[in-house]
Amino acid sequence: PPAGPCAMVVFGAAGDLTSRLLVPALYNLAAGGLLGEKFVLIGLARAPLTDADFRAQLGEALLRHATAAVDPAVWDALAQRVFYLEAHFEAPDTYARLRRRLAEVEGEFNTGGNALFYLATAAEHFGGIVEQLGWAGLTREQTDHWRRVILEKPFGQDLASAQTLNARLRRDLLEKQVYRIDHYLGKETVQNILVLRFANGLFEPLWNRNHIDHVQITVAESVGVEKRGGYYDRAGALRDMVPNHLFQLLALTAMEPPTCFGADAVRTEKTKLLEAVQALKPAQVPAHVVRAQYAAGTIGERALPDYRSEPRVAPDSTTETFIALKLAVDNWRWAGVPFYLRTGKALTRRSTEIAIRFKQAPYAMFRDTPVERLTPNYLVLHIQPEERISLEFGAKVPGPAVRMTGVGMDFCYNRHFGGERAIGYETLIYDCIMGDATLFQRSDTVEAAWGVVEPIFAAWNNSMADLLTYPAGSWGPQQAEEMLGRDGRQWRSTDHDSCR
Ligand code: BG6
Repeated sequence: PPAGPCAMVVFGAAGDLTSRLLVPALYNLAAGGLLGEKFVLIGLARAPLTDADFRAQLGEALLRHATAAVDPAVWDALAQRVFYLEAHFEAPDTYARLRRRLAEVEGEFNTGGNALFYLATAAEHFGGIVEQLGWAGLTREQTDHWRRVILEKPFGQDLASAQTLNARLRRDLLEKQVYRIDHYLGKETVQNILVLRFANGLFEPLWNRNHIDHVQITVAESVGVEKRGGYYDRAGALRDMVPNHLFQLLALTAMEPPTCFGADAVRTEKTKLLEAVQALKPAQVPAHVVRAQYAAGTIGERALPDYRSEPRVAPDSTTETFIALKLAVDNWRWAGVPFYLRTGKALTRRSTEIAIRFKQAPYAMFRDTPVERLTPNYLVLHIQPEERISLEFGAKVPGPAVRMTGVGMDFCYNRHFGGERAIGYETLIYDCIMGDATLFQRSDTVEAAWGVVEPIFAAWNNSMADLLTYPAGSWGPQQAEEMLGRDGRQWRSTDHDSCR
C-alpha cells in the first residue's frame, strides 16, 4: 500500500543528501505508487528560498540523480506537496514556526498529524535538534498520530559518545520512535542475505563451524577521500566503515535465525552476534589489525595524490584509510572460524563482497591432485557494484584423464530481474513511514558495535599498531595479505569476477 499520511521534515535540506538520495528515492516511491496523496515534504534550511525556488532546485537535482527517466507528471504532482521553511535549527522560534507549518499542512493535505523528522545535518546537532523538538511538543505521539526521527550516521565517535547520544534521545523519544539509518541496509543485495539464509533449506545446514573454514568481508572503494577530508581525517576507515556497514554485513551473515521477520526479533539477533564478537586484547591488536594510509598512485588511468596532500587533510595525518581485521565470534556456531574484514579507499577497484570459504574435501581421492590444489569452495555474495551470488567449485575437465579445474555457478540480479536501479533509500523511507524498524539500527546494536572496536582505538592511542602505507590503486598493504598468510589462507581474488 502507499505510505502515508505523513509530513516528512528534512533538517539540513540544502545538503547533498537531500538532492542526491532523498529526492530521487521519494520520486521512485511516487512513480511506483508507493507514496500516498497525503504525503508532504518540508525542507528546512537557512538559505532564503521560496517554496517555488526549493521545488525548482529539487527538480534539477532529480534530473541529475534520477535512476531512470523522470516522468514530469509524477514529479509535478509530488512537487506540489513540497514546501520550504527558511530557518536555523539552533534558533528556538524555528520549532514554534515548524509546529504552525505542520498544523497548516495537516489541515490542507490531511497528513493526520503524523510527522517524520529527518536529520540530515552534521551529527553533532542531533541531540540539540531532538531536544528542541521535544520542548516544542513535536515529539509527543498521541493515539491518533505518530512522530518519528531518522538519524543519519555517524552515530557517535566511540562507545561513550554513542551512549551519551542514546541517553539524550531517550529523554524526548521512545526507542520505537528512533530510526538510525545504515544505508547498507537499503541495498537489495544486503537485504537478500536474510532471504538467502532463511528462506532456503540448502544453505543453513552448512552455515557453521563444521563446514565453513572462514569468512571474508571486503568493502573496497576505488575513490580517495574526495572532498570529505575535513570529516574523514577525524574519522578514519575504522570509524567510518566498520562498526556500521561492515558489522551490518557481518551480523546478517553470522547471526542466528530470528524467530520472525520482525524488527525486534531481527535486531535482537544482530545485537547478540555483535556481543559475541571476541573483544581484542591490547596485545592481540598488532597481529589482528592492519591499518594503513594511501600514498600516491594510479587507479586505472586516474592519478591520486598522497592522502596527506588531499584537501582538508592534515599534512602529518596519521588517519588510516585502510583497515583489515581478524575477528572471532564466541558462540557454538562459529567457535574457531575466523572472520577477516577489510575496507579501504583508493584500492584497485570498487568491490563489496562476502566470501564464505567452505572446508576442503577431507582427503585427496583423486591422487594426482593433492588436497591443497583442489578448487576452494566459495559461496560469494557480491554486494556491489556487481550484484550477484556465485558458487565456486571444482569440475572435471572433459577427456580421458581425471583433470580438475575451478568452475562457477552464478545468479546475477541484472540478468534475472532486469537492470532497474533503486537508490536504496526508497525502502528505508517507506519502512519508516509504515513504522517498520527492521532495517534500522537499535540503540543496543549500535553500542555493541562500538564495544567491539573500542579496544582497537585504545591500543592505537597507546601506539600499539603501526600506520603502514600502500600505493593508491593497490589492494592495500602487504601486511593485510600476511595476516591471512600466517593462518595458511589468502584473500579471495576478485580479478576474474563478472557475471558469466
Ligand atoms: C559512507 C562512508 O557511510 O559509506 C563513505 O562515510 C563511504 O566514506 C560510503 O564512501 C560507502 O557507501 P557505498 O554505498 O558507496 O558503498
